[in-house]
Amino acid sequence: MNILILGSGGREHSLAWAVKQNPKCDRLIVAPGNAGIAEIADCADINILDGEAVAVFAEENAVDFIIVGPEAPLAAGVADRLRASGLTVFGPSAAAARLEASKTFTQEICDAAGAPTARWARFEAPGPARAHIRTTGAPIVIKADGLAAGKGVVVAMTEAEALAAIDDMFAGEFGTAGTSVVIEEFMSGEEASFFVLVDGTTLLPIGTAQDHKRVGEGDTGPNTGGMGAYSPAPVMTPEITSLALERIVRPTMAEMARRGTPYQGVLFVGLMIEQGEPRLVEYNCRFGDPECQVLMMRLGAQAFDLIQACATGQLDRIAVNWAEDHALTVVLAANGYPGTYAKGSEIRGLADLPEDSSNMVFHAGTRASGGQTLASGGRVLNVTARGATLQEARDRAYAMLDRIDWPEGFCRRDIGWRAL
Ligand code: AMP
Ligand code: GLY
Repeated sequence: MNILILGSGGREHSLAWAVKQNPKCDRLIVAPGNAGIAEIADCADINILDGEAVAVFAEENAVDFIIVGPEAPLAAGVADRLRASGLTVFGPSAAAARLEASKTFTQEICDAAGAPTARWARFEAPGPARAHIRTTGAPIVIKADGLAAGKGVVVAMTEAEALAAIDDMFAGEFGTAGTSVVIEEFMSGEEASFFVLVDGTTLLPIGTAQDHKRVGEGDTGPNTGGMGAYSPAPVMTPEITSLALERIVRPTMAEMARRGTPYQGVLFVGLMIEQGEPRLVEYNCRFGDPECQVLMMRLGAQAFDLIQACATGQLDRIAVNWAEDHALTVVLAANGYPGTYAKGSEIRGLADLPEDSSNMVFHAGTRASGGQTLASGGRVLNVTARGATLQEARDRAYAMLDRIDWPEGFCRRDIGWRAL
């Protein structure tokens, strides 16, 4: 098969790496890709937010199957446009991707489905929002309603912080994503990410992970897209996993189908677990980044069989071949990230690393130039390893990382601390 993956991050590099190992894959194309992806696939420079352009490219290149990596093309209806051309696509419709694109929509669906989540209220003007905060007090969570690249959430520990967040959001800090604001009850507990394939009817859990969202060691400093992850997440015991599936995911998916917008693709279920009870923090309509990297490292080639069964409505005929293994990924980011950072510095030492089924450096913001690998983004590399234990995976990942020569980058040295 000719397989096209849309995206250019570490998530898409890990997807490409897994898909490439599947014997069904003849030609692999990634658009737009990055320097690491270019080593294993053809990269195509197309605008992935333009469904028409992707459809034309897919037809011209006899593409049989398309995997959409990030949320932006899904929210923009790219999967719908491709399916309208008869193409086979992994990824939800724009209507189903609203589970990520609108916080209010998700809260309404969860209320209708009876899925446990934080108490919430929506505001379209600062006055009533401020009044609400003064009555409820802190800690409290303020969210821009729309897509804000993971940055539209303020967990305010004081009332003053909460009021400042209201002012920023209504002043347009997140553009139109902030014209409507959701205020939520603060949930305490331990967070975990749960990944479920959904083909409209059948649900198939494919793994759990924990991310490290804060930039600094000990989970301090500002939020990022994620500084490292590991899988499985020990907090996701079989009991909690089954509660999350039966109380949260299944009723929400049934409600989506009932409304005529069934979900097809991977559902990223962000959970807060407290005293043995999972509650929903958020849904995302795609794999997490860097969570995908650890899932792909564990699933390997079978990932494409699962993705294909999902996109063609055959999840009831497939099972995950689980291994008793662990994977861990450490993000190398450009100095200054998540604030401003420089681009264009050279990364050395990558060519000598042992890349195999247990050790991989997945690229995110990199580009190749004259035989060199240059940093071209905030999160730049995902040093990923697998082991029989989490400790082994972690030791391997940091051993690889220490062989990379890139003074312009940094990482957290404590990825996995919660589980270890
Ligand atoms: P979100 O973009 O909704 O995932 O929010 C980003 C992060 O903010 C989450 O991963 C949590 O760490 C935190 N968060 C979001 N909503 C809540 C909540 N209601 N209570 C506590 N923490 C939250
Ligand atoms: N790592 C969190 C996310 O992908 O949203």
